[in-house]
Amino acid sequence: LLTMSVLGLAIAAASSAQARDYDHVRIGVDVPYEPMEYRTADGELTGFDIDLGNALCDRIGVTCEWVEQEWDGIIPGLLSRNYDAIMSSMTINDERRQQVLFSDPYITMPSAWFAPSTLDITEANEETLAGKTIGVQRGTLQDNFVTDNFNSIASISRYSTADDMVLDMQAQRLDIVFLDFPIGQSTLLNNEDTDYVVVGEQVSEPKEYFGDGFGIAFRQRDEALAERFNDALAELQDDGTYDEIFARYFGE
Ligand code: ARG
Repeated sequence: LLTMSVLGLAIAAASSAQARDYDHVRIGVDVPYEPMEYRTADGELTGFDIDLGNALCDRIGVTCEWVEQEWDGIIPGLLSRNYDAIMSSMTINDERRQQVLFSDPYITMPSAWFAPSTLDITEANEETLAGKTIGVQRGTLQDNFVTDNFNSIASISRYSTADDMVLDMQAQRLDIVFLDFPIGQSTLLNNEDTDYVVVGEQVSEPKEYFGDGFGIAFRQRDEALAERFNDALAELQDDGTYDEIFARYFGE
């Protein structure tokens, strides 16, 4: 009987730690990733994720603090409690579901290949990419896809930040890059000096790589916190706030 009640106490203590009620939520983000998370000329943090994240926090009634973290270490940083959530264009997929708990998807974006028009290919495949240098951000699903499919025929350059990759592309050290479509669109297609194009179709299959939309990631035990974000997301989608933020970055 004594053992039973000691065990009971231990369980009660564990579950109250689990249901920790946050009033201050730190959110990990890898910047820049324009238009999702970047800094304005004045140094202010902005973007679709930032505005939506701030609106969610307002709705939930918590203070949110953005914590910058390079992509490659972004899940380890969550697990070691450097922050309590990740909102950084993170695609929901099964591999990550084993480590983190995802919110409902808050947006869905395809991937795409971007190259200078002079590369002169209309599709990205084993033949057209043979001998080419492909740029990806390290640890992204694009890295996984390119590594699994083109490692033996092309050379792959992995970058800690999307920005370094775009700079190397502009310096002509890369033939082609593979990344989330809106990021290539705003950093390369809108470039005035070089004529960049999307090569082939936008890519969102197979699901095993390209997943189920972007989600906010939490530690597995923080179900209550994820629930609060899901409820707030549904409210912002109902009352038009979500559409207003969407239009700010992607047009009507
Ligand atoms: N959507 C891709 C993934 O989940 C890349 C996201 C990178 N995000 C960032 N803020 N750099 O793997």
